[in-house]
Amino acid sequence: MAFYSEEIIEEVRSANDIVDVVSNYVQLKRNGSNYFGLCPFHREKTPSFSVASEKQIFHCFGCGKGGNVIKFVMGVENISFVEAIQMLAERAKIDLPSNDTRDLYLSQDELLQKEQSKKNMYEINKLAGRFFYENIKKSKVAQEYIIKRSIEPATVRKFGLGFALDDNGLTKLLTSKGFPEADMLATGLIGKSDFGKLYDKFKNRFMFPIFDIRGKVVAFGGRSLESAEVLKAQRIPKYINSPENAIYTKGRHLYALNLARKSNEKMKKILVVEGYMDVVSPHQAGITNVVASLGTALTEHQGRLLRQYADEIILSYDSDDAGQTAIERGLEVLRSLGVSAKVLQMTGAKDPDEYVLKYGPERFKKLMDDSISYAEYKISRLKKMYNLSDTTEKIKFLTKMAEILSKIDNNIERDIYVDKFSVELGVGKEAILAEIEKKTLRSTIGNKQTNNISQNFLSKNIVTNNPSRANEDLIIYLLSKKNENVFKELKENIDISEIEDSVKKNIIIKLYDLYETGNINNRAVDSVCQSDEEFNVLTEILMNENMNGDTEKVLSEVIKSFQVESLKNKRNTLMKKLSSVSTNEERESIAIELYEINNKLGQLMIR
Ligand code: UTP
Ligand code: MN
Repeated sequence: MAFYSEEIIEEVRSANDIVDVVSNYVQLKRNGSNYFGLCPFHREKTPSFSVASEKQIFHCFGCGKGGNVIKFVMGVENISFVEAIQMLAERAKIDLPSNDTRDLYLSQDELLQKEQSKKNMYEINKLAGRFFYENIKKSKVAQEYIIKRSIEPATVRKFGLGFALDDNGLTKLLTSKGFPEADMLATGLIGKSDFGKLYDKFKNRFMFPIFDIRGKVVAFGGRSLESAEVLKAQRIPKYINSPENAIYTKGRHLYALNLARKSNEKMKKILVVEGYMDVVSPHQAGITNVVASLGTALTEHQGRLLRQYADEIILSYDSDDAGQTAIERGLEVLRSLGVSAKVLQMTGAKDPDEYVLKYGPERFKKLMDDSISYAEYKISRLKKMYNLSDTTEKIKFLTKMAEILSKIDNNIERDIYVDKFSVELGVGKEAILAEIEKKTLRSTIGNKQTNNISQNFLSKNIVTNNPSRANEDLIIYLLSKKNENVFKELKENIDISEIEDSVKKNIIIKLYDLYETGNINNRAVDSVCQSDEEFNVLTEILMNENMNGDTEKVLSEVIKSFQVESLKNKRNTLMKKLSSVSTNEERESIAIELYEINNKLGQLMIR
């Protein structure tokens, strides 16, 4: 909590509609103002996970988990509070104040300095992008290269492509603008010699600016125009890229996501490729749902980023070993994030750029449509490792294959593969299914246990004969109405110290506090929650449909019922005491008290 102010947290929270966010992870069905789906926090077959769009909360009646949008993201992504805020801020395009952990130890001045420095770096990159773009006009080689790679002028503009000449032009430009040297060096565009002289680091390179999702230039990739032979002989790297710095982290950005995210609302598929040109060519040909992971295997961060914009991710990497390893890792990452992932298979060209230019966009689109699933990809790789004409090898292969198939949650999908491989391998369907069954046994046992837990939970919470528990719930429900008069009535008539459940008591005390400090209308009701337990308890109460009654009526009933319970408890205590006292005086005073309690009870009952 120490990192961001309440105001910022509230801003981030209210900018992210919980139904939208949850829909990225859970298929929701609407029912009134609530939505239902399968809980992402425990395994279940019938939906007990619900999202209330008005209250902006979720609660699972199966496992009991509940919370707001921040809590949801924390749970489903398994990330910290601060990370969840950052992710949601990014999603809503809210600029967060600098939040580096190291910043904790910085003074106010140093923090401001750091912010200014970042601003300078963005500005430098923006100017550099324009500068490189303008350079194309001055460079014959650049113009020739553009033609050679079949890049149209509109594409050059759209991607802000450019050229770095060998004249230290950028250094001169930036120096003339008076940028601090440290910021110029930090962008990686400018270097400093041993003699203290500044120089352009990108020389004679074709430049690809890398934008963040907001469209700000955060880095560059520069391709040498030398031939493959020269590059190899002289050991010149084909591409050089900006270093990681305060505004750029390799594994956190995706090339062209700023464009791809706007592309295809209907398709909701994004293709991830390796290289800059593998993005540019498809985009130019009208296939705009393509991004590049920039030379690395897809990271978890990139996976999360993608998941916000696509329902299905297709990977297309080089067919070499490095490419295949990158695919395997990428698939694992996406699977762990619960994203449906496929692999594009290509023959006849070495990469998407070449394929699109050679065969055209229609055939490339077909390749995308024909992409194979994670399981199919894994099995096709596996198949290559065994000699299937040998029986022993075939059995080994089948065992491994069953393991892969056992991980497919969707029964229909699994059946399709079983059918397919049973024909392909000449093995009976039953044999494959039996093998899968063996592998799934363990997870099934796990399932039964969670089912029992949820059964217990339900019986404990829904069938409740305990009126005081019902009262506590109703008090919280009433306080959630944000009605000052209701609060005053409750406060006057209910003694909180008598509330038994400590979690609920705590929630009620904090809600009282929101009313008393005049903050009730500026905060979400669940802002009083801190622990998981508090969130779970509060959301369950707020989700309870049975409580939707006439506020005034509920209020008077709760107060009456609470007072009755309270008197009955006192009576019970006194009765017990009565049997243990020895003197007549004591007995008499207790009897008087009992008499008064019974009187009050009688009056309450009549009312
Ligand atoms: P490739 O070597 O496959 O190049 O690298 P490419 O994308 O097909 O490039 P062209 O078509 O010859 O121009 C794939 C990606 O890996 C990164 C770049 O992002 C490149 O686009 N890479 C490659 C580097 O960062 N540095 C390198 O030296 C090479
Ligand atoms: Mn290429």
